[in-house]
Amino acid sequence: MLVSFNEILNIAEKGGFAVPALNVYNMETVMGVIAAAEELKAPVILQNYSRLFTNDEGFHLAPVIRAAAERASVPVCYHLDHGAGLNEVTRALRYGATGIMIDKSALCFDENISETKKIVDMCKAVGIGVEGELGHVGSAASGDEQTAEHTTAEDAKKFVEETGVSALAVAVGTAHGRYKKAPKLALDRIAEIHNATNAAIVLHGGSGVPDEEIRAAIKAGIRKINFGTDLCFAFLDNVFATSREVYAIDLFMRGAVNGVKEFAKEKIMLLGADNKA
Ligand code: 13P
Repeated sequence: MLVSFNEILNIAEKGGFAVPALNVYNMETVMGVIAAAEELKAPVILQNYSRLFTNDEGFHLAPVIRAAAERASVPVCYHLDHGAGLNEVTRALRYGATGIMIDKSALCFDENISETKKIVDMCKAVGIGVEGELGHVGSAASGDEQTAEHTTAEDAKKFVEETGVSALAVAVGTAHGRYKKAPKLALDRIAEIHNATNAAIVLHGGSGVPDEEIRAAIKAGIRKINFGTDLCFAFLDNVFATSREVYAIDLFMRGAVNGVKEFAKEKIMLLGADNKA
C-alpha cells in the first residue's frame, strides 16, 4: 500500500528499526525492491534523486512506482531524495510523491533553516512530511566522510524545532558513493541527536558501511538508511554478466531484477525491517 513518509517513519520509530530507502531508476529496480519487500513483509521507501525530476525520467517512472506501491501488500513510500529546490519539489508532488527531501545543507545554518522551512510549510498544506539535511554528507570519492564536521545535537534540535521537518539527514561519518576505506560512524553523536530531537534521524551513504556499524547506528537511533550505489552495482553487475544472446529485453533483465531483489533482501534483514509491515 502506498503510505506517507510520516506513516512509514512512525512504523520504524515504534519498531526500533531503520526503514530501508532504496534509490530506484527504472521499472526493473522498482520490481526488484518490491519483490524483496513482499517476500520479507517489510516496509520500504522507494526514492528518486532530484535530477530525475529535472528531465523525463521522473515523469515516466512515477506512475510505475505509484502503481507498484498501491498494489503492494506492504507499506511503501515514494520519496524525493535530495530535492534541489522548489521546481523539483513541486514536480515530485505533482507526480504523486508521498515524501519530500529538501537538501539545502550547502547553505549556512540560518539560510538552510529558512529555505527548508518554506518547503515544510508548502508540503504541510498537502499533508506531506519533509526530510532536511544538516551538516553536509559529501562524496566518498573525495573522502568527505573523514573530513566533514559532524552535525551537533544542539544544532539538530534547533533545526528541527524551527523548520518542522519530520526527518533529518545528518553528517556522522558517511558519504555518498564507494568508500576507499570502510567508514567509522560517530555512534555517540547519533545517540545525542536522537535524544535531542523528535525527528527521525537519517543515515545517507549506506553503501559500503560495514554491517556492524549499521546495526550499532540503528541501536543509537537511526530510523532511515539510504542505499544507492550498491543497488546500482547489484543491477549492473547482473546486466554485464548476462549473455548477449538473450535479446528479448524482459528475459535479459531477469537476472538484474533478481540481483536487486537479493540486494534489497539483504539490507531489509540487516536493518531489522523484515516482518514489520
Ligand atoms: P550511497 O549511494 O552511498 O548508498 O548513498 C545513497 C544516498 O545516501 C542517497 O541519498
